[in-house]
Amino acid sequence: MIAKHAQEIEPFIVMEVMERAQELEAKGEHLIHLEVGEPDFPTPACIHEAATKALKDGMTGYTHSLGILPLREAIAEHYHAKYGVRVSPDQILVTAGTSPAMWMVFAALLERGDEVILSDPHYACYPNFIQFCGGTLACVDVREEDRFQFRPEAVKARLNSRTKAILINSPANPTGTLLSAERMAALADMGPLILSDEIYHGLVYEGREHSMLEFTDRAVVFNGFSKAFAMTGWRLGYVIVPAELVRPLQKMHQNFFISANAFVQAAGVAALRDALPDSERMRRSYDERRRFLVPGLRRLGFGVATEPTGAFYVFANAKRFSGDSYAFAFELLERARVCVAPGVGFGKNGEGYLRFSYANSLENLGEALKRLERYLTAR
Ligand SMILES: Cc1ncc(COP(=O)(O)O)c(C=O)c1O
Repeated sequence: MIAKHAQEIEPFIVMEVMERAQELEAKGEHLIHLEVGEPDFPTPACIHEAATKALKDGMTGYTHSLGILPLREAIAEHYHAKYGVRVSPDQILVTAGTSPAMWMVFAALLERGDEVILSDPHYACYPNFIQFCGGTLACVDVREEDRFQFRPEAVKARLNSRTKAILINSPANPTGTLLSAERMAALADMGPLILSDEIYHGLVYEGREHSMLEFTDRAVVFNGFSKAFAMTGWRLGYVIVPAELVRPLQKMHQNFFISANAFVQAAGVAALRDALPDSERMRRSYDERRRFLVPGLRRLGFGVATEPTGAFYVFANAKRFSGDSYAFAFELLERARVCVAPGVGFGKNGEGYLRFSYANSLENLGEALKRLERYLTAR
């Protein structure tokens, strides 16, 4: 009954860890959650207020399928102020989170057999989007020694007549590393369209993030409000696309989603116009937690050769404890009561690693380290 492409979707392993944890919690166990990629901060008050006001003002209907103009203008101004790039509000499509935008872009671009170059390890959902839309994965290995980032020579070696796009993610999930400006420029010059997932922009602790649009106009940029503004549950994202992609995506959005939520879009305007100081405060807290967690994990024997400098993850080498990250993550959950994401969920090169999210309080991170120490020394 179920179509092949639906049968082939892989489960999101992090969710499986969380669901097992919830079973234990229902029995009264106390667990510490370092597996999910979700800010622990509440959404800033000015964003709430804007949504409440929009509701009071009756902003409860469909909107323009591309998104309300004030939000698209705010996004265009944000990209100009932050990166010095000029994009027109007409090149922006606002969606219910970055995820639907990804699905639509892959569906609009890919014909059966078209290849998308992506790193291994990578964000767990990318392969599912690409394959569901008929594309083929062209994974390029990236290594700890190389900050888990693309070497342009390795990407070049994968190019062929079927290459449709190169997908980048900087700062990256699961590794927390950034692609350098030089490497971004080199990828921009290779020819294929660049798909740049910029969802972790605003969460950078050393150096600065670059938008792909600083290097080329032949780029599709995904971004959203989930991470930097602590708005995962509001479901608000957007995509900036070259002019020829606007109309196909707009037609898909009209048919399949109609528009993003009206009052949530008003909240998005407030996020970009008023909540940047709140976002900066959260960034500083994540940085403090990062500086606490990385040495703590190293003390326990996890390898962190590449210091993460963005997003809110540490991708720690756990090979001295186990070569099976899936089994090891569940062992830590059951025995140490600490939840982490198994590296294998992020590609074959993630095997032997665990992803720790530091979107959690210093107190909980400290308690997690204590529990891990107790368990690993007795193991
Ligand atoms: C790299 C990356 N891209 C996209 C997303 C999806 O974000 P959204 O909440 O905007 O759909 C996530 C969520 O974890 C992510 O880590």
